[in-house]
Amino acid sequence: MRISVIGCGYLGAVHAATLASMGHTVVGIDVDAGKVDQLAQGAAPFHEPGLDELLRNGRSTGRLTFSTDAAGAQEAQVHFLCVGTPQDKTSDAADLTFLVSAIETLLPHLAAGAVVVGKSTVPVGTVEMLRGVLARRPDVMLGWNPEFLRQGTAVKDSLVPDRLVYGVDGGRGAAFHPRSGAPVGVTAALDAVYEPLLRAGIPRLVCNFATAELIKSAANAYLATKVSFINAVAGLCDASGADVAELAEAMGMDPRIGGRYLHAGLGFGGGCLPKDIRSFRTQAAHAGATALDDWMQLVDSVNQGQRERTVALAAELSGGSVAGRSITVLGASFKPDTDDIRDSPALDVADRLAAAGAHVTVTDPKAINHAWRRYPRLRFEASTERALEGAELVLLLTEWDEYRRLCPAAAGARVRRRVVLDARNALDTAAWQANGWSVRGLGTGSAAAHPPVQAPAPLLS
Ligand SMILES: NC(=O)c1ccc[n+]([C@@H]2O[C@H](COP(=O)([O-])OP(=O)(O)OC[C@H]3O[C@@H](n4cnc5c(N)ncnc54)[C@H](O)[C@@H]3O)[C@@H](O)[C@H]2O)c1
Repeated sequence: MRISVIGCGYLGAVHAATLASMGHTVVGIDVDAGKVDQLAQGAAPFHEPGLDELLRNGRSTGRLTFSTDAAGAQEAQVHFLCVGTPQDKTSDAADLTFLVSAIETLLPHLAAGAVVVGKSTVPVGTVEMLRGVLARRPDVMLGWNPEFLRQGTAVKDSLVPDRLVYGVDGGRGAAFHPRSGAPVGVTAALDAVYEPLLRAGIPRLVCNFATAELIKSAANAYLATKVSFINAVAGLCDASGADVAELAEAMGMDPRIGGRYLHAGLGFGGGCLPKDIRSFRTQAAHAGATALDDWMQLVDSVNQGQRERTVALAAELSGGSVAGRSITVLGASFKPDTDDIRDSPALDVADRLAAAGAHVTVTDPKAINHAWRRYPRLRFEASTERALEGAELVLLLTEWDEYRRLCPAAAGARVRRRVVLDARNALDTAAWQANGWSVRGLGTGSAAAHPPVQAPAPLLS
């Protein structure tokens, strides 16, 4: 099939390359000429394991091209919208201007009977709004196919997704021929696009537009809830001498709960989860779903609180204030295996420490090039060894594998004080302690004072 992908960022570039690897002829369109140039040369403009190889293959087979000109999409039968839907600058709502402008630019180039499918994460009601933009083209079909890939494993997630969701006009009842049961319209087009995945047994769910729009937001809200839940429990663990890592491990062994996303620490960030739960909250507020509105606010504030807690702990470990202290931060990206620094908890904490007067050196295996211009108060150092030189406090803020595997003896030889705040609860505490390090985690009860147990009030006076 001939396919276009509009917006070639973390989502779109991977989607375009994956579709080309499935045998489709794909053109990726983006307004960012630098990004398009790099992609056209077969090189990923960001760090995503496996993407370079897919791009090179796509280029060598001639099936994958990139352009800044929307006219390049005119031969495509299916167009995927993958542009950003960031948080609005003045509210918690999603900003849909990139989406509207992408459709408007595409409009004159749509062939008769073309199918336009959104993949961006959007608030409920977006498809209805976009239908208005497409009103002049009743022959064009619209669908929504939310994306669940995770940065760091995006290629694998796209080649072997957990599920495919199709939002179509009229929902499941309208997606199949009433007599033959064969898929029709957008469902048929998407089945043709994803034929290799369907053949491999990947489940596909067909639903109406509102459900498709909400599935992605609800899934992200649930993951964020799990993270904030265990972080809230971590506060109690710290106060009581319990170890949240052991607690979460035991909780996660219950298959009804599961251990993933049940890991206490500095909390989530990035270009998706924070803005998605805020958009979800706004949608709930507009719809009068107050419980969900309150819930999302709490999840968000627990998450932000972990950053404040980390800054406060750094001050505590520095003798009350970080002013004038040399602090080394391990990790700048919002999570390991990506160079994405959008709403990075690590950089947020590092910047707050610098604002409080600390001399902060940040190191990261991939993200420094993105970070140094945006954070003028921070010093960046590519080499972990050099970054550790003379540190009075080390903070592990992004749990890259190389930091988990750091040799505590070698690291200890570089620093001035062997004190580490492991805000991702990722280090082998015993090994670091055995090498003379004082290790503090979040919720691991390491420095806990046991609160006295209150005697119960007498039942009868
Ligand atoms: N990043 C992820 O892991 C992920 C996962 C699932 C869903 N999503 C959703 O996918 C969407 C995109 O996210 P992203 O992380 O790829 O964002 P991104 O900022 O990395 O990419 C968006 C791209 O769209 C381009 N763009 C903007 N306006 C355009 C236009 N009019 N025409 C063509 N290109 C245009 C930008 O230049 C940019 O390259 C968001 O809605 C996000 O919530 C992202």
